Amino acid sequence: MKFFIDTANLDEIKKAADYGFLDGVTTNPTLIAKEGLSDQDARIKAICDITHGPVSAEVVATEPEAMLAEAKHLASLAANVVVKLPLTMDGLKVTRILSKEGIRVNVTLIFSAIQALLAAKAGAAFVSPFVGRLDDIGSDGMGLVEDIQTIYNNYAFDPEIIVASVRSPQHVLRAALIGADISTIPFSVISQLAAHPLTQKGLEAFLADHAKVKEKK
Ligand code: G3P
Repeated sequence: MKFFIDTANLDEIKKAADYGFLDGVTTNPTLIAKEGLSDQDARIKAICDITHGPVSAEVVATEPEAMLAEAKHLASLAANVVVKLPLTMDGLKVTRILSKEGIRVNVTLIFSAIQALLAAKAGAAFVSPFVGRLDDIGSDGMGLVEDIQTIYNNYAFDPEIIVASVRSPQHVLRAALIGADISTIPFSVISQLAAHPLTQKGLEAFLADHAKVKEKK
């Protein structure tokens, strides 16, 4: 399973790259706003300088013509930019046009398996089911990923499934068990992935025992 980082923060992206856990990056308008950026383009280019993996940049226009123009602009920023479009009828229409032109689209804000089916039929390269937001309303986010995986297997559909809105290591574990292609993970959750209390306890015991041997010498 590929690990993307879900952030527009350069320090977090660099840290994930240094740890060796950076196969790509996803951003969205909220993550960009959090950075207080006046120039989104410059940030997208800077991210693309750190990773050659796919970097999702989201369109904010809502009318098809304007969406198309914005998508083409974003795609022109770097070769590894993936255009993110919302799962709306117009988003699907623009996805179809862009995919025919060879521009990769990540269809975002997916909350049902039928939406993921539509995105696949429109030619999406990636789909982003938001698991955490479904869990937040008492629904089953990872159940949605299972359903999408089943549908895509049934028909050999191409899009890679990006498990998005990840809140915990449990989401990452379940994504891997389901066989999802990608998890896009906030830095706070990446930091938790390696942690286990018994690893820490065991390390402390090993170091204490080693210190005793040294004292005896
Ligand atoms: O990037 C899309 C998605 O991962 C957003 O997550 O935490 O805002 O639900 P969240």
